[in-house]
Amino acid sequence: MKIGIAADHGGFELKESLKKFVEQLGHEVKDFGAFALDNADDYPDYVVPLARAVAAQDVVRGIAVCGSGVGAAIAANKIAGVRAALINDHYSAHQGVEHDDLNILCIGGRVSGIMAAQDFVEGFLGANFTGEERHKRRLQKVSDLEK
Ligand code: RB5
Repeated sequence: MKIGIAADHGGFELKESLKKFVEQLGHEVKDFGAFALDNADDYPDYVVPLARAVAAQDVVRGIAVCGSGVGAAIAANKIAGVRAALINDHYSAHQGVEHDDLNILCIGGRVSGIMAAQDFVEGFLGANFTGEERHKRRLQKVSDLEK
């Protein structure tokens, strides 16, 4: 899959590491920045372009990292068609895709260690939406809010 990735200074180090990990899993990675550590940068400047690319299906899924993952999730969810969530456990990483068609995984670079973050990414990228009627019905109720 073509995977987009983005981070501010709070997630920069983890992003750089996860980028290599995602490539090792066999995916193509498009990096939306930051491209250097800048302690004065702002997460929307990287997360919103990533979210727009996910919504436009330029990339299939996204990974957004900031210090806590909270700001990244808030910003990404402002873009119609994006279903982003802050993930701190393996179950939610795959179940979020299976039930809720999660398309942007948000991680806290100051919260999750590299091994945990890799585990979340693997769960997220390895999962598929079930397409079950009850899940589609719920997602329709959510996407109706974007109209
Ligand atoms: C940056 O210091 C920090 O506020 C940001 O990375 C993020 O944690 C926001 O949610």
